[in-house]
Amino acid sequence: MAHRTINFNAGPSGLPLPVLERAREELLDFAGTGMSVMEMSHRSKEYDAVHEEAIALVRELLGIPAGFKVLFLQGGASLQFDMVPMNFLHGDRVADYVVSGRWAETAWREAQKVSGAAARVAASTAGEGFRRIPRQDELALTAGAAYVHVTTNNTIFGTQCRHIPATGGVPLVADMSSDIMWRPFDVRPFGMIYAGAQKNLGPSGLALVIAREDFLAGARDGLPSMLSYRLHAEKNSLHNTPPTFSIYILRSVLAHYKALGGLAALQARNEEKGRVLYGAIDAHPGFYRGHVTEKADRSVMNATFNLPSAELDARFVAEAGKAGMVGLKGHRDLGGIRVSMYNAVTVDQVKTLVSFMEAFVAKNG
Ligand SMILES: Cc1ncc(COP(=O)(O)O)c(C=O)c1O
Repeated sequence: MAHRTINFNAGPSGLPLPVLERAREELLDFAGTGMSVMEMSHRSKEYDAVHEEAIALVRELLGIPAGFKVLFLQGGASLQFDMVPMNFLHGDRVADYVVSGRWAETAWREAQKVSGAAARVAASTAGEGFRRIPRQDELALTAGAAYVHVTTNNTIFGTQCRHIPATGGVPLVADMSSDIMWRPFDVRPFGMIYAGAQKNLGPSGLALVIAREDFLAGARDGLPSMLSYRLHAEKNSLHNTPPTFSIYILRSVLAHYKALGGLAALQARNEEKGRVLYGAIDAHPGFYRGHVTEKADRSVMNATFNLPSAELDARFVAEAGKAGMVGLKGHRDLGGIRVSMYNAVTVDQVKTLVSFMEAFVAKNG
């Protein structure tokens, strides 16, 4: 068997081994065509089956009711930062942004570039180093806003929004790049959900978009084709050549999730990983210093902490690397350690890291 590293990268991040094995298996001869899926027409019946299966699996895993479209777009999550206001923040509309982390702030800044002051900040925890998620009672929401934008998991700071805010009927638009499908959830309060694929879904560059049809109906007319959600929805994400191989991998990731027992099974695994990892942090609070102040806001996808010195942080990363674990260096904005535990990371891999953490504190604490 190939050597596989224990991969705690924040994104792009590890893919489930059975997905990679399936891709290897099918690479030279997909479905008896004598071609890889990368080499065939996006209008072929073989590719069409992949495309439709990917959409059907998104619907099935998330229990998406009628009245929602599932799209596969390019430009990652970052292009959605721009497309959302281009499509939905026009005329005399305003939108409220919950600024809970660096990506949330970027989404708001991009919306400002597109729509100026119409992109408002409903609340921000920037002044507190993004150590927690803004509370419901802190949100200054505008009645009749076009949408409220939230970021459900703050990849850099390690906070996660367990409770979707109440918006009084204003549609939610959510960046779920770093925690989509970590558990089942109800899509109905969302006008739009988007996620860069490179954490829980597949290769980078691809974005999954889930859009409520009545929300889509309010999109602006006359946009350039590639920037129009409505056009992509009308063309079933086949207006131009889609990123076929990335969609194929996403299909295989979702088929793997289904085989594991669906999102409820993934949630149980993810909660367990969180318990194991945060248990180790809480056992040594003077040594492993968690960044997040509100325990209820701790992310089960990205855990962030600092050791007592930058020198110890560096030694931790280097020694973990020697022990076969990569991707643990914290984001440059925060330093320290970040453990990204997306769906492909197993409970056993987190337990291996925790054994390493226990040994490291015994030696250096
Ligand atoms: C929460 C969140 N939003 C947006 C992005 C940007 O995604 P992309 O690089 O696909 O544009 C990231 C990337 O890590 C992210 O974590």
